[in-house]
Amino acid sequence: MNGVVTIETPSKTDRSALLEDELEVLYKVSRVLSRSLKLQSTLQEVLKILNDSGRLRTGMVSLLDTDSGELLVTALHDEGDASLRNVRYRQGEGIVGLIMARAESLVVERIADEPRFLDRLGVYDTDLPFIGVPINIGEEDPVGVITAQPPNADQLEEQARFLEMVANLIGQTVRLSRAVEDEKRALKAERDNLRREVKAEHGFDSIVGHTPVMRRVFEQVRQVAKWNTTVLIRGESGTGKELIANAIHYNSNRANNPFVKLNCAALPDNLLESELFGHEKGAFTGAVSQRKGRFEQADTGTIFLDEIGEISAAFQAKLLRVLQEGEFERVGGLRTMKVDVRVIAATNRDLEAEVEAGEFREDLYYRLNVMPINMPALRERVEDIPDLAGFLVEKIVRQQGRPLAIMDSAIRMLMRYDWPGNVRELENTLERAAIMSEDGNIDRDVIALTGLEDQLQTGDSPPPGKIDFNDPNLDERERVIAALEEAGWVQAKAARLLNMTPRQIAYRIQTLNIKVRQI
Ligand SMILES: Nc1ncnc2c1ncn2[C@@H]1O[C@H](COP(=O)(O)OP(=O)(O)OP(=O)(O)O)[C@@H](O)[C@H]1O
Ligand SMILES: [Mg+2]
Repeated sequence: MNGVVTIETPSKTDRSALLEDELEVLYKVSRVLSRSLKLQSTLQEVLKILNDSGRLRTGMVSLLDTDSGELLVTALHDEGDASLRNVRYRQGEGIVGLIMARAESLVVERIADEPRFLDRLGVYDTDLPFIGVPINIGEEDPVGVITAQPPNADQLEEQARFLEMVANLIGQTVRLSRAVEDEKRALKAERDNLRREVKAEHGFDSIVGHTPVMRRVFEQVRQVAKWNTTVLIRGESGTGKELIANAIHYNSNRANNPFVKLNCAALPDNLLESELFGHEKGAFTGAVSQRKGRFEQADTGTIFLDEIGEISAAFQAKLLRVLQEGEFERVGGLRTMKVDVRVIAATNRDLEAEVEAGEFREDLYYRLNVMPINMPALRERVEDIPDLAGFLVEKIVRQQGRPLAIMDSAIRMLMRYDWPGNVRELENTLERAAIMSEDGNIDRDVIALTGLEDQLQTGDSPPPGKIDFNDPNLDERERVIAALEEAGWVQAKAARLLNMTPRQIAYRIQTLNIKVRQI
């Protein structure tokens, strides 16, 4: 002991009590802030905590409105009048604007003595001190200001430091919430873009056909799209059933809602059930969590059940119930789910025969067959082949990224085949032809390389050379092309067949815009 006596000063105990207090308040504030990203209500709660702690009253948080560049009062404690919420400060305006512009805290001992004080809100006790602190996010400009009034002028600097800590916590929440907002906005924009693209892709423009049978299909699609009726699309494989299902959904008032597809033939019965109706956790081995089925995913939208003719009798009964009542249970679940889903089904089977044979439930058949749409086979609309071929070649051009041209000789050959695989087979043939064509010209030789020629000879279409050039059903263009083919594309020979001069046929080739294969 060298005579120095240390005495616990009262101010030190005070200080430790103060710090403890502050810590407690900060803890509460951080808890509120971490609970949700709904800024307005959480900030309101933060101000309430500050007020209830007895250390900072009439708190207010103003946040920068990035669109207008103004400060918007976002939360206010003690608000007698809710309209105060809409008070705005411009940059540099009033004390709040000043704090924002300078990005510095401001401490005033008695607010009445501060000439820049606007008292817009009219909620302050003008005899009390005032503290205002910018809300910072890292190094950037402040995103807002928090202000409050301590009950007395003791330890004002300490109080300001404390409010700065609160402001930092708020800053983190604002940053997070803005990041989430930005992300949401970006996702929404992307979603809308994709929707527009998808819509354009599945509009009528992507379905080729001008023959009366196809026009009837388009008319039916237009009609049926308006209503919520179940649609059954029938037709051979590759006739465009899925394309039509798309067109119906994207031209209906459900277009912005989900479009969910499921191929019923792709799954065994038990999997199909949980796929369509979902399952509860533990419903079966492997059901480790609850899962929504396709019907729930499609709620408010459309479900496309492809190859509906393939489902088992047991499953037919379950499907019937959804179609009739819009109701089902998840696998392993007791709760009855109700959904608003429009059903489009497709099949290439002869359902009537299956009903007759007792393989397909009659009641389900009637339930599905409310609005049947029959897709014609390609051989029933041969006149669509030139347009289809042109459209599909364009599609391949985009895929392969190189120019391609299809010659009339090729098209005539395509028109003579009977296409059991319909448009899909045509598409595949053209794709193969495009690959085999070195210079990008698809003519009859290239088509022959795809193997179509062999099938033509065994098919029952008229063999080449039997075309009657005077057939009144042939139009001028077809007549000239037929003759050119017959003549092996030797123009002089074709002219003879048509009783024309070489000049006449050359003139027609030009005016009828016939692409002639170079030989
Ligand atoms: N009218 C059409 N216009 C343009 N492309 C078509 C047309 N019809 C079919 N296609 C194309 O042919 C292919 C087969 O069509 P889609 O898948 O819709 O047939 P599907 O009837 O569902 O066949 P499957 O019974 O084999 O499932 C697709 O690539 C599709 O884009
Ligand atoms: Mg299909």
